[in-house]
Amino acid sequence: MKPELGVCYYPEHWPQDVWAEDAKRMVETGLTWVRIGEFAWGKLEAKQGVYTWEWLDKAVKILGDAGLKVVMGTPSATPPKWVVNKYPDMLAVDEDGRERKFGSRRHYCFSHLGFRAEAARMAGDMAKRYGKNPYVQVWQIDNEYACHDTTLSYSAAARLGFQDWLAQKYQSPAALNRAWGNVFWSMDCDDFAEIDLPNLTVTEPNPAHVLDFKNYSSDQVVAFNAAQVSAMRRYTDRDFVHNYMGIETSFDHFKVGEDLEIASWDSYPLGFLERFETNEGDDFKAKYAQQGNPDFQAFHHDLYRAVGRGRCWVMEQQPGPVNWGLYNPIPLDGMVKLWSMEAIAHGAEVVSYFRWRQAPFAQEQMHAGLLRFDRVNAQAQIEAKQLADELKNLGDISHKTAQVAIVFDYKSAWAWDIQPQGASFDYFKLVFEQYCALRKLGLSVDFIPANATDFGNRKLVLIPALMTWSEQLNKAIADFDGVVIAGPRTGSKNADMQINQPLGPNFAGAKVSRVSSLRPNVKLPLKSAGNAINWFEEIELSQGAEAVEFTQDGAPILTKTDQHYYLTAWLDVEAYANIFEILAKQAGLKTSLMPEGVRLRDMGTKQLLVNYNNCEAKFGDIHLAAASYKILEGLN
Ligand code: GAL
Repeated sequence: MKPELGVCYYPEHWPQDVWAEDAKRMVETGLTWVRIGEFAWGKLEAKQGVYTWEWLDKAVKILGDAGLKVVMGTPSATPPKWVVNKYPDMLAVDEDGRERKFGSRRHYCFSHLGFRAEAARMAGDMAKRYGKNPYVQVWQIDNEYACHDTTLSYSAAARLGFQDWLAQKYQSPAALNRAWGNVFWSMDCDDFAEIDLPNLTVTEPNPAHVLDFKNYSSDQVVAFNAAQVSAMRRYTDRDFVHNYMGIETSFDHFKVGEDLEIASWDSYPLGFLERFETNEGDDFKAKYAQQGNPDFQAFHHDLYRAVGRGRCWVMEQQPGPVNWGLYNPIPLDGMVKLWSMEAIAHGAEVVSYFRWRQAPFAQEQMHAGLLRFDRVNAQAQIEAKQLADELKNLGDISHKTAQVAIVFDYKSAWAWDIQPQGASFDYFKLVFEQYCALRKLGLSVDFIPANATDFGNRKLVLIPALMTWSEQLNKAIADFDGVVIAGPRTGSKNADMQINQPLGPNFAGAKVSRVSSLRPNVKLPLKSAGNAINWFEEIELSQGAEAVEFTQDGAPILTKTDQHYYLTAWLDVEAYANIFEILAKQAGLKTSLMPEGVRLRDMGTKQLLVNYNNCEAKFGDIHLAAASYKILEGLN
């Protein structure tokens, strides 16, 4: 693979006489891709059926003639006012029953079939016009599903759609009542039409009800995306992509990804540092304020590489201060280049910066671009150009399957969000912390979905907090001769989110009999190293199984049968790293303890070493300047 760079561009924001100059400067910067169009519905069809394609034709021609390949976005994230006037009930409704109004973006409910058809019609019209245009090489569908909390909508359309979805799933109200356990609190229903959405109830609604609603809502994102793709495919044979977000679990990305060729995500390391709470607290945030969390970007590259079945991009790369973080510092010089190279090392085929030029107007006027709004090159442009030059000499990068994988499951994220049983239980965070511990050991990691049928030639597979064992996964485990580490909370519920009988998870000899959630200031020290935090399970051990790690009070923390292990607790990174190091060695893996803020990523024949610190760091005898990286040849 030969990695490339790109940029997001909004020709409609600028006078036409600067487009050619912009295109020329993009090419001079070393960029080869440009994404356009994803918010331009109002400029393309200001009134129903009255199209003004000419300006977009011209923009595509100018960009393409300059040597750039175009990613064209479908504009469904910004339906113009006439669309809302046509379908006044297409607006989403929040959990408190309030309509979410026109006046920003993403003002639509995924369940509204009229809007879904309108969006697909517009996407089809675009594909008809540009589907065979030699410059338009990739299609992006919509923009950041779920952004601004838009997956769930409590609208009338959602209510009807949900009832229909439930009728198809359960076939009879009696089956639904049984699956949900509606006998509890006299919640039985006689007719699917009686089932309401799970909001505005006096106290918590039935968790199975909420889980089905989340599942239904996720399916609407999948269907909305698929409707556009299928309206377009007949006019174009180009690849399709969507730009996913960080820390976003409200819909099943694997399912959306099945209808697209490429997965991409929008990487804003400093914005996300502020948004994502870690156990390290405020000092950590201060230390990495201008660099970002050293594992956060890598985690998402690895996750979305799985969503894209091996093909991933960064569609939007932070170029400087953004406007939406709690605080919006300037990145340390070197970081834009580091983030981009790191993405490439994790498999990104293209890293595309958001955005070309800062807009001096509207919501994002404080958001940096590669160019300042006065057209002067910003620091990010300088770094992008340096990287483009480096990439020319880097040659092809090959990627191979990582020897370690983590099973990631969106449904489990919903389940534990609905019933965390302790304020600190957060599925994403749990998986992220196990991932961080693996990276501290210098390991490269893949993600796999819960319906994976085999683990390939991997050596170590982690399955944290998976709600329900799937048949496929059971088969994959049975066929696998490496080390598997499950827990905590893995396999604790059946598919209806009821506690398993007999007790789960029945893995590595562990049956969980009681669980305890821990306050943030309570730690259970382990005999070996580190602590159990947040969550702790008491277990019964089956015959033939043994416990191999304990709390200082003697409670089992890790159980074992052959190559299978079960973790009975959420551990801090020190404890995970200690245990994973032992088990990785047992699995035949080579580990190397990474210095703080320094991370290693395997790129086939080469390795990338990154230093996220704002000071010099050392790895063995290799010196790394602050905010810098080195490519190592043949360490393996
Ligand atoms: C992304 C979004 C872009 C832009 C950007 C600003 O979430 O896709 O359209 O708003 O954030 O950082």
